[in-house]
Amino acid sequence: MADQKRTAGWLPLTHIHSKGAQGVAHALEKALAQEGREDRHTHGFHTYPAGLHPETARALLELLPGDSLFDPFCGGGTSLVEGMLDGRETFGSDISPVAIAISNGRTRLWTPERITKFRSASRRIAKEAQENEEYPPPFITSRVKPWYEPHVALEIEGIRKGIAESDPEVRAALELVLSSMLIKVSLRRSDTSPQRVERTRPIGTTAILFHKKARELGRRWEAFAADVPEETPEAQIVQMSGLESDPPDLVHSILTSPPYPGVYDYLPFQQLRLAWLNWDSPEIWNQEMGSRRAFNKSPREAMFNWKEDLRTWMTRVPHQLHRNGRAAIVIGDGVMENRVIPVLKPLTMEARDAGLTVVASASGGRQDMGTGLMREEHILLVEKS
Ligand SMILES: C[S@@+](CC[C@H](N)C(=O)[O-])C[C@H]1O[C@@H](n2cnc3c(N)ncnc32)[C@H](O)[C@@H]1O
Repeated sequence: MADQKRTAGWLPLTHIHSKGAQGVAHALEKALAQEGREDRHTHGFHTYPAGLHPETARALLELLPGDSLFDPFCGGGTSLVEGMLDGRETFGSDISPVAIAISNGRTRLWTPERITKFRSASRRIAKEAQENEEYPPPFITSRVKPWYEPHVALEIEGIRKGIAESDPEVRAALELVLSSMLIKVSLRRSDTSPQRVERTRPIGTTAILFHKKARELGRRWEAFAADVPEETPEAQIVQMSGLESDPPDLVHSILTSPPYPGVYDYLPFQQLRLAWLNWDSPEIWNQEMGSRRAFNKSPREAMFNWKEDLRTWMTRVPHQLHRNGRAAIVIGDGVMENRVIPVLKPLTMEARDAGLTVVASASGGRQDMGTGLMREEHILLVEKS
């Protein structure tokens, strides 16, 4: 229960302030103040915790030069989608297989023929899944059983088997569709809350939802492709630690949001997806930066490690940017032992130590619904001069 109370939730901003070059600082304030759900293009497909607001990303791109963009902690890929809509070459990395699946899925520019093939596959799979009578194998059942009504588990298993037999050209996208609905059809409250809720799903509707979500993704791809400037390549995304990943070449800009200390548990949030889609692997679990579980276990050691990780990452940044390239870093204050951990100061210090020039920063505060604490979210804009 204590864990659940720590889950971040957002109320409206109560204050906002900025520092640095005046016009830029004001633009950062505006970027930070974006609120409300933004559902356009592929953004709204699949939930992802702590996603950037698409309008924040779009506003920040106006301050970021050039035609190439890197996000080493890309999560659901908001910055990559916006970068492509701005006609840039985009690169991303993340340790989470769920983040990789979502950001890959959200940044595809498929031909109409390939989208048709994907839609037909989803229709066939949904139909066959309604007839499935085999439960999932033990390596899945052992991890998911308490969270699904038996008939829902049967339908998901049917979908899972159908995807495994589908054309490799559309398989990853079909997996993303299944991933997008696994919490909605479960007895788990939400991605970020492991609370059990009693829901009853009529028989057959899980398979129908799969087909509906696939059609939705197809429509979103079409809207996305229509607005991405011609010649823009699809984002290149790798599953790798942001502390070790580099873009293939120097980039003009970085737009990213690294993990906040002690606020989220990105991998445990995804346990049902990792199990159903067989996406788990032991090596990812100790790579997660700033996880809440590490802060619960040993707060001081976790804080030390988060700062070390921040330094390791920041030291790479100047080596990834062209001269005069810029990085916009969006980050929220942390939580340790029920206290707020301010992050702007350590972030700014690390950026300066890495040889970057601070252009401006903006901070906005609001009450965290889970903890009641007043936390700030920040944008720091730095330049390689
Ligand atoms: C604040 S979220 C990024 C959200 C993203 N900007 C979006 O719009 O969806 C931070 C991300 O960092 C990832 N992460 C945690 N530790 C990491 C590491 N060592 N290397 C790369 N990614 C990591 C998490 O999986 C999570 O996706």
